[in-house]
Amino acid sequence: MSVTEIPANPTTVGAAKGGTHARADRMTTTKFKAMKGRGEKIVMLTAYDYSTARLADAAGIDALLVGDSLGQVMLGYDSTVPVTLDDMIHHIKAVTRGVQRALVIGDMPFMTYNVSVEDALRNAGRIMQEGGARAVKMEGAGSAEAVERMVAAGIPVMGHLGLTPQSINVFGRHKIQGKTREEAQRILHDAILLEESGVFALVLETVPTPLAALISRKLSIPTIGIGAGAGCDGQVQIVHDLLGWYPDFTPKHARKYADLGTVLNRAFQEYKQDVQQGTFPAQENSFDMDESLLEGLE
Ligand code: KIV
Repeated sequence: MSVTEIPANPTTVGAAKGGTHARADRMTTTKFKAMKGRGEKIVMLTAYDYSTARLADAAGIDALLVGDSLGQVMLGYDSTVPVTLDDMIHHIKAVTRGVQRALVIGDMPFMTYNVSVEDALRNAGRIMQEGGARAVKMEGAGSAEAVERMVAAGIPVMGHLGLTPQSINVFGRHKIQGKTREEAQRILHDAILLEESGVFALVLETVPTPLAALISRKLSIPTIGIGAGAGCDGQVQIVHDLLGWYPDFTPKHARKYADLGTVLNRAFQEYKQDVQQGTFPAQENSFDMDESLLEGLE
């Protein structure tokens, strides 16, 4: 199939492609809260490109986070710290073009929301206007004032507590957060502060299950866990972990639903062999013509 032959997204119901026409079944931040009220789990995944976003959206994933984890899985950095706002907007645009129903949330990268509130507002505005995201995510509770101003300006904000990867150089390494009483108290306080500031949902990353469950009970907004146990109101996973993109590594918090790394490696090797042996392209992959037309051509 050529790229021009990719079939229309099966979830499309008359919405103009690339337009902003709202569909009735489109996921919204208010629906998130209603889902928590009904005890319905929210299913979220990361996505960084158009093709993956289309598939995840068609499968009914509720929300797609264009996470700054793209620094590692798409750009090959060793942390999220080098990711820029322009990097984020580039990938958010691709994801929003592939989505009809899911809520697309754009991550605010390192140093784009904690220098000044004005900066945070301007940068979040770019993620919404240029990227087309319908919400942003920010790490930590240090920017509560920025959250209030953003929400007042019409920008829905998702919080993120526990292991906040942009602070890797402060933490020293990826480790479970909230294991001591003091840490647990701080995370709970921060969660309440963020809810009061107006976040519509809160990611809890790598915190013990009982703490995440307690926070989930205390808050009226939904918690979305990654390595935070089944007591959260929803779950998020990095799509590469879920698909087994790295055959030798699956983090403890993830489950491998496919073995894509192995499948792709095998496909690349078979392709290489077929080209080298001359069995690809075959007749069915080639285009014919009346060869007499070539007579006399130099
Ligand atoms: O950047 C990201 O993908 C994230 C998730 C781990 C929640 O923040």
